Amino acid sequence: MKPIVLVTKRIPKHVEEYIARYCEYEIWDQERPMSRHELLEKLPNLDGIITTKEKIDKEFLEYATKVKVISNIAVGYDNFDVDLMKSKKIIGTHTPNVLDETVADTAFGLLIMVSRKLSYLDRFVKDGKWDKIDNELFLGKDVHNSILGVIGSGRIGEKIIRRATLGFNMKVLYHNRSRNEEIEAKYNAQYVTKEKLIKESDFVMILLPLNNETINYFSYDEFELMKEDAFFINISRGKVVNEKGLTEALQKKRIAGAGLDVYEKEPISTSSALLKMHNVVTLPHVGSASIKTRNDMAMKAAKNLVDGLYGNQPEDLIKELK
Ligand code: GLV
Repeated sequence: MKPIVLVTKRIPKHVEEYIARYCEYEIWDQERPMSRHELLEKLPNLDGIITTKEKIDKEFLEYATKVKVISNIAVGYDNFDVDLMKSKKIIGTHTPNVLDETVADTAFGLLIMVSRKLSYLDRFVKDGKWDKIDNELFLGKDVHNSILGVIGSGRIGEKIIRRATLGFNMKVLYHNRSRNEEIEAKYNAQYVTKEKLIKESDFVMILLPLNNETINYFSYDEFELMKEDAFFINISRGKVVNEKGLTEALQKKRIAGAGLDVYEKEPISTSSALLKMHNVVTLPHVGSASIKTRNDMAMKAAKNLVDGLYGNQPEDLIKELK
């Protein structure tokens, strides 16, 4: 008998066909996400599941009595209770590598949008406010030849640093748990303390995974150390940054602006002060959202699921379970 699996979001046809070869399956095919109740109801019957951002916690695992593999379509897996999964010998996988270049593109897009005011100016023109040919309001900050500070220099960080140095002639400072001699040699990136990076960068970019060590890694005290004309970019996880501290720093004009793809709570509340600020660009968590990359992520997740269910070590087992 084939294992029974659930996929909690729509996936491309060829990925569905791959799953069909090995599993009995159900795909949540609706536009709206599955409710928690709908999800819990299905769990007792499942051997495996492909998730995106669903919380894999004590309650989930109490219902998922037969589940052997949880395959996340995302590189981040802060939705997993890793210790609990480990104690229950559940295999957890994610989708690294295939999204690196796409996320790096998004990071750079955000950086340019916010520093050169591109989304603000787009709205300005469309709102019919372009009444004189030039205006001091249009002036932004150059990206080329500036200083980029990257906090978290893993796979995605490296792709961003490549764009920064080869494409924009930026000087790169980086901070990480460990040094990365390869990016130092290749891109002349300089390893510095968190404090030096924050104080000296024109753009501070956060690329840390969310875990107990990184939650609230950046709060008002850090923003206060930044240059007043520097920008802050977050493309990792919202909770790595204390949003109240960020909002306060922006309100007090302690920093020049922010480019955000992620938030403490997603979707962000429509009443958030951040949405009222011209110098904040807000994207709806789309770092990896190109058609090709999302297809590749779905295929990777399907392969990880099938491998785990059939007793082969999945390629992308999360590191805590290796
Ligand atoms: C997206 O946020 C991911 O973790 O892949």
